[in-house]
Amino acid sequence: MKIVVPATTSNLGAGFDTFGLALTLYNTFEVEESDAFAIEIYGEGADKLPTDIRNLFFQAYIRACQELGVEDKPIKVVQKNDIPLGRGLGSSATAILGGIITAVGLNDLKLSEEEILELAFLFESHPDNLVPALVGGFTVSTMVGDKQVKFQKLDFPIELKVLVLVPEFEILTEEARKVLPAMVSLKDAVFNIQRASLMVASLVNRDFEMLRYAVEDRLHQPFRGKLLHGFDLFKEEAYKLGADAVFISGSGSTIGVFARENLDQIGEMGIELYKRLGYAATYKVLEVDNEGLRWAK
Ligand code: HSE
Repeated sequence: MKIVVPATTSNLGAGFDTFGLALTLYNTFEVEESDAFAIEIYGEGADKLPTDIRNLFFQAYIRACQELGVEDKPIKVVQKNDIPLGRGLGSSATAILGGIITAVGLNDLKLSEEEILELAFLFESHPDNLVPALVGGFTVSTMVGDKQVKFQKLDFPIELKVLVLVPEFEILTEEARKVLPAMVSLKDAVFNIQRASLMVASLVNRDFEMLRYAVEDRLHQPFRGKLLHGFDLFKEEAYKLGADAVFISGSGSTIGVFARENLDQIGEMGIELYKRLGYAATYKVLEVDNEGLRWAK
C-alpha cells in the first residue's frame, strides 16, 4: 500500500497546542508485507533516522496492531521524505499516522478519524500536528482527557500562501517545551484567548489585516523566539515587505509566514538574515493541503 501524509505547521501564534494547518509538502510510505522488518529511507533524515525496529513508523505500526488485536506481521517500507526533520513541520506525525494506517489497511479494518487519532496520542500528546496531517486544512483541536480529541476543520482562504523559512538547526519539541513557564497570569491567558479567537474570526471573515495581531502570543513565542535566534528581526522585516502574519511553526525551528505578495522577497530576506547571524536557511512557498493523509492498497 502507498500512504502520503502532508507536513503541518501548528500553534500559528496564539493557538498553542490547538491550531494546525496541513501544507503541500509530503512524506510518502510504500509498504508491503515481508519476511522481516526493513525500511529504506530517502530524502530528509535519510542519514539519521533509525532503520531498525526503533524507527517511529515501525513503532506506531506494531503498537497499533497490538491495540487493535491483530498480528504485527513484518513489513518492508520505502519512505520518501520531503519534510525536514526537527523543524516544527510535523515530520513525526507523518510516521506515526503512516504506521497506524498500515495496521488498519493491511488488516482491512475500519476506524474513524477519532479512533485513529486516539492511537496516535499514544505517541504524541498534542493534537495540533496529528489532526491536520490526518484530515487536511486548518484545524482547531480540543483534547477531552488524554486520549480523545474533538476538532473542527475550517476552509483556509485561498488568497493566503504559506512561506516556511527553515534554518539549518533543529529544535526538539521536548526541549522547546522545557523553556515554557508552568504558570501564566490571568492577563496573559486573556491575551491569548483574545488573539486565538481573532485568528478564527479573521480567517472566516477573510479580514487579513487582522492576522498580524492574531498571531501574537504570550504562552510560547516570547520564550522560544530566543532559540530561533532571528525570529524578532525576521518578523519586523517580513511585515515591512507586506507579510500578513509571522509566527513560529510548531515548536520551531521553522518560521511560518502568511502572505499574499512578495513571498520570494520575504524568503530571500530570511536567508540573508540568517546568513548574517551565521546560519544557513532555505525557504519554501507552499499552499494548504485540504485533503490530509491519503492511502491506497
Ligand atoms: N504545540 C506543540 C508545541 C507543537 O508547541 O510544543 C509541536 O508538536
